[in-house]
Amino acid sequence: MMRLEQGGVFVLTGAGISAESGIPTFRDANGLWENHAIEDVASPEGFERDPWLVWRFYSERRAGALPCLPNAAHRSLAASEAVMGDRLAVFTQNVDHLHEAAGSTRLAHVHGELWRNRCSDRRCPTPSVMDKRSYASLAEVPRCAACGALMRPDIVWFGEEPRALDDAAAALERCGTFVAVGTSGLVWPVAGFVTHLRRTRPEVATIYVGLMPPSNAKVFSDVRLGRATEVLPPLLRQLTG
Ligand code: OAD
Repeated sequence: MMRLEQGGVFVLTGAGISAESGIPTFRDANGLWENHAIEDVASPEGFERDPWLVWRFYSERRAGALPCLPNAAHRSLAASEAVMGDRLAVFTQNVDHLHEAAGSTRLAHVHGELWRNRCSDRRCPTPSVMDKRSYASLAEVPRCAACGALMRPDIVWFGEEPRALDDAAAALERCGTFVAVGTSGLVWPVAGFVTHLRRTRPEVATIYVGLMPPSNAKVFSDVRLGRATEVLPPLLRQLTG
């Protein structure tokens, strides 16, 4: 449960905030999806069809992300939290742990976490477990300690419900400023956060920070183009007061 204080800052982050740490985005040139059919590696049906293809993809993601370090944009969010406490909440679509590594704690991973596994049988109540390993074959992939089903990455795939949506909805009701960083605005329902705000609370400032205008740029009241590491820290200093 993450409660944002009335008038606080709601921050939504996407792949663009981790790009300068060396983690590829999804939809830019050389992005993650360029060489993969999304439905093959990021859907429950894809996992059922070919669990090894999926595990190979996420094993590569894990190995690639392991040495990456938080950048100035992640650090500026953690520094703002230290000052603002529950007047700041970060909802990230990223499955990496760079926000935590920078020191953020008021954080929700709406699309799951790269370093966790969960049981692939959705009826099994066994909680997810931490796992940083990459696998070289399906035979190495662990099975659920409770029911024996194959474990899967704890990622929210297409067709699955994002996490913490109730907290996000409550925070959208309370926020005084909304900031989105490095997200193309194409994946729903998260892309709808800013649309919802514009419709229900048009007085709230909605600021986009990123390299290029996102697909939903016209919904934002302010679009600030540039690298997250250059544009976000001064913006947060301004908002922190
Ligand atoms: P995308 O790859 O769709 O968009 C990344 C955005 O970051 C683009 O708009 C870039 O212009 C911008 N960008 C790139 N480098 C940047 C930098 N240095 N500074 C600022 N902005 C930069 O990534 P997301 O919108 O996060 O879901 O993707 C949303 C979801 O789609 C992901 O969470 C993932 C994917 O399917 C799952 O895996 C469940």
